Amino acid sequence: MEKPQFGKASALGYAEPHIDELLKHSIRTQLESLLKSKVTTEQRVKLLQKSFVEAMTLALSDTKVAHQQLVKAFESMYDQAVQSMALADLSQEVLTRQYISATGLVMSVHNCKHTIKDVYRIKGYARGIDQAIRGKLKNNSTITILYPACGPFAPLLLPLLSYYKNSQTFDSEQIKVILVDVQPGAVMTLKQLITDLQLDDYILQIAEADATQFTPDVAIDLLVLEAMQHGFTKEGQLSIAKHLVQFLNIDGWMIPQSVSIRGMMVIGETEFNQQWKQAEYSHSLNVSGEAQQDRVELGEILTINKSTLLEMQELELQDGIKVIPASQITLPNDVDDMNERILAIYAHIDTFAQEGVGQYDSGITHPKPDTSFYVDGKPRDIEHNHFVANSGDTVQFYYQLTGLPGFVPVKV
Ligand SMILES: C[S@@+](CC[C@H](N)C(=O)[O-])C[C@H]1O[C@@H](n2cnc3c(N)ncnc32)[C@H](O)[C@@H]1O
Repeated sequence: MEKPQFGKASALGYAEPHIDELLKHSIRTQLESLLKSKVTTEQRVKLLQKSFVEAMTLALSDTKVAHQQLVKAFESMYDQAVQSMALADLSQEVLTRQYISATGLVMSVHNCKHTIKDVYRIKGYARGIDQAIRGKLKNNSTITILYPACGPFAPLLLPLLSYYKNSQTFDSEQIKVILVDVQPGAVMTLKQLITDLQLDDYILQIAEADATQFTPDVAIDLLVLEAMQHGFTKEGQLSIAKHLVQFLNIDGWMIPQSVSIRGMMVIGETEFNQQWKQAEYSHSLNVSGEAQQDRVELGEILTINKSTLLEMQELELQDGIKVIPASQITLPNDVDDMNERILAIYAHIDTFAQEGVGQYDSGITHPKPDTSFYVDGKPRDIEHNHFVANSGDTVQFYYQLTGLPGFVPVKV
């Protein structure tokens, strides 16, 4: 039997001085899992491929799959993918570098590896992408998919490609994929993982590039993108989408086909605490009717789809900061306890056809409380970032396209 594959100096090379506890823990977990597995390369690769196919089989199933079964399958996919990462020769610097770019947070490879366990986000995307691919391949013999900011595991596509390959649904003549990530460690991991999954034939290009600057050499049929955090803050989804939408074929599709960002005024304790006391896990199917009734919905603040992106006008402020005008919302004046409520902003994602990621299905659709937004009340010490309004006022929202993207409310 072959030795476990952490023999490569690099995998142990992370274990240098000055590493934080989290990283130490992560390395230990990875090395332990390599040690524990005691499998040959051939066996490891088989287990990896099997885990990807199994997770996707469950995600695409039309019969209900128990939550725990899904979680287990996705964790197994993670455990296997992490082994490919451990073999990819990432230095501590490459693994942990996290920074703010001109258009948003660029998470470290170390932090990004967990997104492959975000079950209902991947499920909502994969089911949508599957339908979009089937739709496109009805009229085209081959299609090109662009997946920017894909992270080290490209989890919205690689499991699906593994499933297609295994079930011989679509081959590499039919689907061509361009992967883009600005993190060198994401690209290194992707290369190892794609080799291990034997998916190389499907991959047209892996580009280490800033997706807000990247120009593909070919026209794109499907643009798959998920680079957002809750409240539509921090990451550069909008800047990336706005730049890349121009490379879609005239009949090309974006996935998600629509992201709707909405606002509501909530009692924090009801929305974020009481509502979840009895729930087995957070999911749009488990929200409480009572808490939903208690919300004061303000409506849609911004919609992002192919046509709104193509029409979107940027305003440039004096200091060069760019903003996008979003909706105007009039605060209702028939709510008695408005001064006790906080603004929460949440996204509803329609990936494709009837598929999507609803509120609380994933961290990215969790409502985000904004404690700087006051209605009918004032903070004791007003700071420059506080926004104070009254019921009945009209508020114009803008979206700032900076290193920390997010909404800015302004009284009309
Ligand atoms: C949360 S992770 C992975 C998200 C991935 N789409 C998924 O579904 O799991 C975010 C990744 O986006 C990449 N990223 C962020 N901004 C980027 C940009 N402007 N250009 C290219 N990659 C970017 C980061 O390097 C990181 O690997």
